[in-house]
Amino acid sequence: MGAPTYEGNAARILVIDDEAGVRRVLLRLLSSEGYEVMEAASGQDGLEILWTHGADTVLLDVMMPRMDGLEVCRRIRKNSRTAHTPVVFITAAVDRQFRRQARKVGADDFLSKPFDEVELLARVRNTVRMKLYYDGLTRERNRLRTEVDGRTRALDEATERLERLQEELKVAREETIARLARAAEFRDDETAAHLQRMSHYCYLLGKKKSLDEYTCEMLRIASPMHDVGKIGIPDHILLKPGRLTPDEYTIMKQHAEIGYKILSGSESPLVKLAANIAHTHHEKWDGSGYPRGLEADQIPIEGRIAAVADVFDALTSERPYKKAWPIEDAVALLERGREAHFDPELVDLFLDSMDEVLEIKDQFRDSHNHDAEPAARRIG
Ligand code: C2E
Ligand code: SIN
Ligand code: SIN
Ligand code: FE
Ligand code: FE
Repeated sequence: MGAPTYEGNAARILVIDDEAGVRRVLLRLLSSEGYEVMEAASGQDGLEILWTHGADTVLLDVMMPRMDGLEVCRRIRKNSRTAHTPVVFITAAVDRQFRRQARKVGADDFLSKPFDEVELLARVRNTVRMKLYYDGLTRERNRLRTEVDGRTRALDEATERLERLQEELKVAREETIARLARAAEFRDDETAAHLQRMSHYCYLLGKKKSLDEYTCEMLRIASPMHDVGKIGIPDHILLKPGRLTPDEYTIMKQHAEIGYKILSGSESPLVKLAANIAHTHHEKWDGSGYPRGLEADQIPIEGRIAAVADVFDALTSERPYKKAWPIEDAVALLERGREAHFDPELVDLFLDSMDEVLEIKDQFRDSHNHDAEPAARRIG
């Protein structure tokens, strides 16, 4: 039976006793068992050694000059680094009164002089095991705590990165949409102002149709991409100052399908919405539109909304191939187009909101018309 060890090291015992003879006996006995033994002749020295080197058990004499064993034990317990170090009192007489005092200061065990060697070694082995077990738990707890801290930190960092990325994506998405819409605009005479009016008409129609705020906002952001497919139309057709021939018009009509191909396949609800708008904004209520000849409810609501908004703005704006129409003529065309070209309910909602329509039109005027038109009123 040797001394318990930890990580290959012998357990350490500190003997604090003012009698050299007692220290000698204990030193010999414990060393022969394989313990590493430190000794101190006074309470003061003992505490210093303990706080410097630590110990797995302290054998502590009770009756010592200056600082007695009870006081030494009290101080060992008060120091957080040694609060769990086992203390075994060595005393001649173990009476009830002393036991009570010893328990109060936090002693773990008692040994009475003269020593029974077997009993002494058994007691010491127990307290040392207790101490090593406690140390093991402490180390494990600290390791787990460090690990959990590390993981929590990693998780926090990952979450933060993800949030930053999402924010960047959001910004990038809006910017991409604006740039994509503008790319088509550069080729055409559809100005930024046209895209803004069109997108605000779409938002307005969404609200009048009682779609939820989120959907209306999505419509506002996605609708400027409706003509993005015009990127694929040759200049001599797109920018032709006069009417298109039937063949040219056939090519022109491909812009809906091209726009859809550019935007389709995205996971993003916003880009999906934009793809649908590009695909369906030239479908007509009576099924005579393009590219698929959908009719009525087969045309998604976003396409029906975009059709009203787009045509109204195209008519009331100047194009390379046409002058801007007066408002009354555009209104008359929408009314004529009820149930032929447009969703009749949307035409009614749009015409009932003509005040708001005109506010939008006034707010986003083409810059080249700027001198001829009245000062913009802000939409409040
Ligand atoms: P856009 O200029 O944005 O016009 C969108 C839609 O507004 C047109 O779709 C049409 O439904 C309506 N619209 C625009 N101007 C007029 C008009 O003067 N009269 C009538 N009744 N409706 C009008 P649409 O017809 O499918 O045309 C799609 C695109 O094809 C137009 O987009 C425009 O870029 C081009 N386009 C159409 N017609 C001509 C044309 O005669 N000459 C040229 N150069 N381009 C044309
Ligand atoms: C220490 O390890 O330094 C403190 C005393 C002990 O727990 O052994
Ligand atoms: C159309 O809308 O059918 C072609 C454009 C126009 O009439 O000028
Ligand atoms: Fe179009
Ligand atoms: Fe347009």
